[in-house]
Amino acid sequence: MSDFFAHETAVIDEGCEIGAGTKIWHFSHIMTNCILGEKCNIGQNVVVSPKVVLGKNVKVQNNVSIYEGVTCDDDVFLGPSMVFTNVINPRSAVNRKNEYLKTHVGTGASIGANATIVCGHNIGKYAFIGAGAVVTKEVPDYALVVGNPARQMGWMSEFGQRLHFNEEGIAVCDESGEKYKLENNKVSKI
Ligand SMILES: CC(C)(COP(=O)(O)OP(=O)(O)OC[C@H]1O[C@@H](n2cnc3c(N)ncnc32)[C@H](O)[C@@H]1OP(=O)(O)O)[C@@H](O)C(=O)NCCC(=O)NCCS
Repeated sequence: MSDFFAHETAVIDEGCEIGAGTKIWHFSHIMTNCILGEKCNIGQNVVVSPKVVLGKNVKVQNNVSIYEGVTCDDDVFLGPSMVFTNVINPRSAVNRKNEYLKTHVGTGASIGANATIVCGHNIGKYAFIGAGAVVTKEVPDYALVVGNPARQMGWMSEFGQRLHFNEEGIAVCDESGEKYKLENNKVSKI
């Protein structure tokens, strides 16, 4: 265990690796064998289920449960009360513990408040999921999706600004001045 902060009401089970500078706030529970990177912020009333892996600087807002099968790369933002799932067809009387579907959240992606991610659909790097969206499909890198079911309404820069592509498929982020290219419905930074 490294130099991290956990509020006295937080519970951290055995076998976890927690990176330096990470903060874990009131009433949160980090279950066995989780790996949390450096400088993460785990808000209030958060549950991180066994074996979950979070990268560096992952920010988890209040009331989020990160279930087994979820992995988040560096700089992911999980908005307040967003919901992951890990069983596609739960029945209380049927044990599906060996049927968890995986959900991977790519570097820099943001998930808005109260959004729901139906399991087995990966979220691309720097994708942006609007508040209250219900994600039922893979979300491409840099895509902005909203609604239930979530539909793509555009593209977002790494700074969280809308990208408006010109006829040559080039867009410039208003905030950073960085350039992006849209080619074959895929966005990359140039
Ligand atoms: C998705 C988001 C980034 C869009 O912001 P924006 O680019 O400024 O979009 P606008 O407000 O101009 O809205 C454009 C259209 O999308 C709709 N829209 C915006 N956000 C939406 C959402 N979350 N769900 C459904 N529709 C949405 C608007 O109603 C508007 O529709 P209209 O053109 O028919 O009037 C923003 O609305 C959002 O959801 N942010 C997440 C906030 C959050 O959860 N933060 C958590 C930390 S506190």
